[in-house]
Amino acid sequence: MKIHLIAAARPNFMKIAPLYHELVSRPNLEPVIVHTGQHYDLNMSDVFFRDFKLPAPHIHLGVGSGTHAQQTGNVMIAYEKVLMDTRPDLVVVVGDVNSTVAATLAAVKLGIKTAHLEAGLRSGDRTMPEEINRIVTDAIADYLWTPSKDGNENLEKEGVAREKITLVGNIMIDSLEMARPVIESKAVFLEYGFQKEQYGLVTLHRPSNVDDPDSLERLCLELARISRELPLIFPIHPRTRANLKKFKLDQVLKENKAIRLIEPLGYIHFMNLVFNARLLITDSGGVQEETTYLGIPCLTLRPNTERPVTTTIGTNRLCTPATLFGHVVTVLDGQRSSGSIPELWDGRTAGRVADRIESLMV
Ligand code: UD1
Ligand code: UDP
Repeated sequence: MKIHLIAAARPNFMKIAPLYHELVSRPNLEPVIVHTGQHYDLNMSDVFFRDFKLPAPHIHLGVGSGTHAQQTGNVMIAYEKVLMDTRPDLVVVVGDVNSTVAATLAAVKLGIKTAHLEAGLRSGDRTMPEEINRIVTDAIADYLWTPSKDGNENLEKEGVAREKITLVGNIMIDSLEMARPVIESKAVFLEYGFQKEQYGLVTLHRPSNVDDPDSLERLCLELARISRELPLIFPIHPRTRANLKKFKLDQVLKENKAIRLIEPLGYIHFMNLVFNARLLITDSGGVQEETTYLGIPCLTLRPNTERPVTTTIGTNRLCTPATLFGHVVTVLDGQRSSGSIPELWDGRTAGRVADRIESLMV
């Protein structure tokens, strides 16, 4: 059985990695990595292939950046050709990026069975491009594999037939457990002059936070205020870097010695900083999950989340720029519980997915 695994952007590589390794170990399954090229910088793409010991992509579509329609359209056009030439038995898409919905549209229209890993997540916020990608992908994919029960409930509310939905668990925890020995063998924080649990780690890249000059300036001011209480390290996403420069905010941040601005990191290095951080300030989807699993306080600069379990039972708290500082103080005062771990976030999701795939063969 030939299975295409679609990888496109940073959060996809850690989702396909455990699945690739599991599928390749099963004699009847032949995983093929298809990279759409949505992310292409060394530290946004290649580094993850090295960190997760993945082979180079078997197929590379090289679509690059563009507007939403350009990116989605270019993936569809390029991937349709590949599908017509190779006719895989199954296409697996992950997450919620533009390439996820594009590959699903191309495959489903050719009558090729398609599965969505990380199905059913909903923020309820249609101003988020990812929410549109999630809704469309789940409406047309054949198999919907969810990370948590709320995913099943969302899909059922949308009228999806129950037999299409399977709760498989959170694949991001497989990635973390797979890499844990190497992550724990390092002390990356020392390279930046920090001590264990004596710094905060920041990631920001949502258009709602970083594309508007006023929002980004406000966030920079809040980070500067927080850095007087806790030094910060900030690996900057390329979208954010470009906007900091465009809005002339980069110099202000660079002059602040308590905020270390660095390039995006590979998974092992980044996770070593997560493991040892006092707290995270973020708008990332994946980071909300990783911190919940590790019991590390996470302050998410968003009005909503498609991962509500991270706030109901995990360590995640939604913040605005106005409430962020107060949340930081609460964490530094030690007034935060360590939360608990959602069901099936156990590092064995890839095995359950591979079992599902094998059951589709009979
Ligand atoms: C994309 C996803 C988002 C995900 C994020 C993870 C969509 C709609 N968005 O957002 O859901 O959370 O990836 O990081 O699919 N760029 C580079 N080098 C790269 C990649 C991008 O310089 O390797 C720059 C380009 O200027 C590009 C911009 O970043 O225009 C944005 O890239 P894009 O993939 O369109 O969206 P992200 O913001 O990365
Ligand atoms: N990540 C990384 N290096 C970084 C920042 C993030 O390896 O410099 C990892 C981290 O594990 C995170 C994942 O990339 O969970 C997801 O990335 P991102 O925040 O870009 O995407 P999202 O999850 O918001 O879609």
